[in-house]
Amino acid sequence: MMLAARTRAEIEHTRRRYPHPRSAIMPSLWAVQHELGWLPPEAMAEVAELLGLAPSEVQAVATFYSMYFKRPPGRHHILVCVNAACALRGADETAAHIEQRLGCPSGTTTADGMFTWESTIECLGGCGGAPMMQVDHHFEEHLTPERIDAILARVAAQPADHRDWPPARVPNPPASTTPPPPTAEGPPSAGAAG
Ligand code: FES
Repeated sequence: MMLAARTRAEIEHTRRRYPHPRSAIMPSLWAVQHELGWLPPEAMAEVAELLGLAPSEVQAVATFYSMYFKRPPGRHHILVCVNAACALRGADETAAHIEQRLGCPSGTTTADGMFTWESTIECLGGCGGAPMMQVDHHFEEHLTPERIDAILARVAAQPADHRDWPPARVPNPPASTTPPPPTAEGPPSAGAAG
């Protein structure tokens, strides 16, 4: 057993919410990733055992979705959208700039273990802020080289918390009809993954 009692209890609770244990695979894998930061094979086998499924059923789900990590990621995870709206507004240049700044290609981790980054052809749902990327579950939009550099510097100074999901670091702004002022990094972010 490699999972914490809390995670095992979460998986068993999830199992009871669905008529078929296969429906509990995805939230169970999230629970594991929140605890460990990635999905070791032993942990996936433990999920299968808890759900009463074959290990291959759990592995099939984990390998299908790119947002489940099958290898240990860096402290911070960056996902760059290169789908249509972002592509039309410079996503290729965004990805090229990030690759140059981090010194490693998409799908890999920086030598110091600080960042894992990858581009995705799946729309992340932030088209209105294109070009955009997701950093540790938060949207960063209207990207420019200068804004990317500022974001990377800010994020590198933050601790990583894989259990911070749904996002908890950015509180909801108070209800107001006055838009927040722009920051030094550019326009304020309009959304967050969830
Ligand atoms: S195309 Fe990039 S967020 Fe939709």
